[in-house]
Amino acid sequence: MKLFKTGTVLLFSLVLLIGSSMAWAEGNTSKNAFLSGIHKKNQISCADCHGKSLVVDDNETALNKNCVVCHGTFEKLASKSKEHINPHKSHLGEINCTTCHKGHAPSKAYCNYCHSFGMKIPAMGSAEQSNNKKWTQETTQKKSKTEKMKTENADIVVIGAGGAGYVASITAHDAGAKVILLEKMPITGGNSMLAAGGINAAATQIQKAMGIQDDPAVMAKETMKGGREKNDPELVKILSYRSSDAVDFLISLGADMTDLVRSGGVHVNRTHRPVGGAAVGPHLVKVYRENAAKRKIDVRVNSEVVKILSDKNGKVTGVQVKGKHSGLYTINAKAVIDTAGGFAANNDLVGFYKPQFKETASSNQPGATGGGVVLAEKVGAKTIDMEQIQIHPTMGGETKVLISETVRGSGAILVNHAGKRFVNELTTRDKASAAIFAQPDKSAFLVLGEDIRKSNVQIDGYIVLGLVEESDSIEGLATKMGVPATALAATIESYNKAFEAKNDPEFKRQDMPMKIAGPKYYSIWVKPGRHHTMGGVKINTEAQVLNTEGKPVAGLYAAGEVTGGVHGWNRLGGNAITDTVVFGRIAGANAAKFVK
Ligand code: FUM
Repeated sequence: MKLFKTGTVLLFSLVLLIGSSMAWAEGNTSKNAFLSGIHKKNQISCADCHGKSLVVDDNETALNKNCVVCHGTFEKLASKSKEHINPHKSHLGEINCTTCHKGHAPSKAYCNYCHSFGMKIPAMGSAEQSNNKKWTQETTQKKSKTEKMKTENADIVVIGAGGAGYVASITAHDAGAKVILLEKMPITGGNSMLAAGGINAAATQIQKAMGIQDDPAVMAKETMKGGREKNDPELVKILSYRSSDAVDFLISLGADMTDLVRSGGVHVNRTHRPVGGAAVGPHLVKVYRENAAKRKIDVRVNSEVVKILSDKNGKVTGVQVKGKHSGLYTINAKAVIDTAGGFAANNDLVGFYKPQFKETASSNQPGATGGGVVLAEKVGAKTIDMEQIQIHPTMGGETKVLISETVRGSGAILVNHAGKRFVNELTTRDKASAAIFAQPDKSAFLVLGEDIRKSNVQIDGYIVLGLVEESDSIEGLATKMGVPATALAATIESYNKAFEAKNDPEFKRQDMPMKIAGPKYYSIWVKPGRHHTMGGVKINTEAQVLNTEGKPVAGLYAAGEVTGGVHGWNRLGGNAITDTVVFGRIAGANAAKFVK
């Protein structure tokens, strides 16, 4: 790459852009239309992209480095973009270029796996080919039958680089263990990356500084009540009593947790998030990635664990991995931590456990397919509550975009197509979803005023995504929503009176932090959708995975959404991140102790 002087690079970029735009416009699916063909036509050799050895590692390190050398950083590309939605400035952060841009296959913007942007991308092949492409992992390098499977050694292997995986890895690393963190998807972050709300924690320094009285015992009580008393009380105790430490841990890593809001089913502002009400997930994942990089933790994407290995006594001895390029290999490890997440993105599994939810949209990332549960079961793990699948009340209309519960927590109300409120907006998710499903067309609207919008910077994102209607008047908003204007005006007037009186006689909403007032009024059309799977592998308070006899599977730990028991039959908003941090830390610390 040093061969290129700035002028050549610019010329190349221009030629590449024109060439690729042509291929993309023509929908040409021949090999020449892929990025490799376009590069070749422009005298860019294989080694220019792949490096001299031409060996591609699963992180596609050289490729990604060379993409940036020629085309510029994310920041530079984002600043040049005139797109309404800027893919180089998305909540996924600075991921590998090769996540979207493929050399030898049609390229596809990763955003399109969750959104319906129809976003165009150079060398995408035909639109049909690109749109129909489901998420799949391909192994490009085949091993001959005689070739010996490569073996590596580590103290601890962590499966799944979402929030729990990162927290467990960082904790185990800091306790002196050699950790390898494996992620089957081309990007890290898991569902944590999409987390909108925040992290629930009781009696934190942040709450105290704001004069908010809270108590872990009350957090435990509310978590149990929200979970319909089906949670494992011991796990809930740990979740609640270690939640404040979890927030301190995040702050020690460099996270900003200075804003507080309320989620459903609780009596106090307990949901911690970054300043201005920014989404918690992208912020935390950025912090996790930076901390893992600083510690030089071995993080591998495109690396799917296909088997957890164990000896004849049932003790876990490592994993077998399928790397996108490296193929099958083994990592011998003294302990394995399963943080592979839930299965709300897996239609078949959801349909198996809850047929009535099979057709509902999922807010989850495409990798949330439940592989970690299956892996653990094969080495004896017991599963619980698998049929407990959470429906979140507010996903944006026909999209997979979650409209955070914190929008209601900041003061928004829910109205139906008759322009009337029909539920306490801050009840638990199961009850709010049921109330929306009971409306004639199974959908509703969030309605809010200017101050509520300003207190929740995430709403600006929903505006960019075209999910928000706005008007200078209630009548104008009602027209856009297609609801009777007089009814909507009466609903807002009555809610504002309840706000002034601090008493909501009809729906008994406890917390009304702001009234619905102009100058502008906003609405978001919402429908319930699949959000979280409460069931999974059974763990004890030490984050050890238990077998069907209730005994620990030696050397196997788990944390986060892959586990069951913490949330019972209904998770409270904000408790998922607490789960990943509290039990991720316990799993990391105990696995590190175990390997010593
Ligand atoms: O609605 C939300 O912000 C989601 C939060 C959560 O699932 O914890």
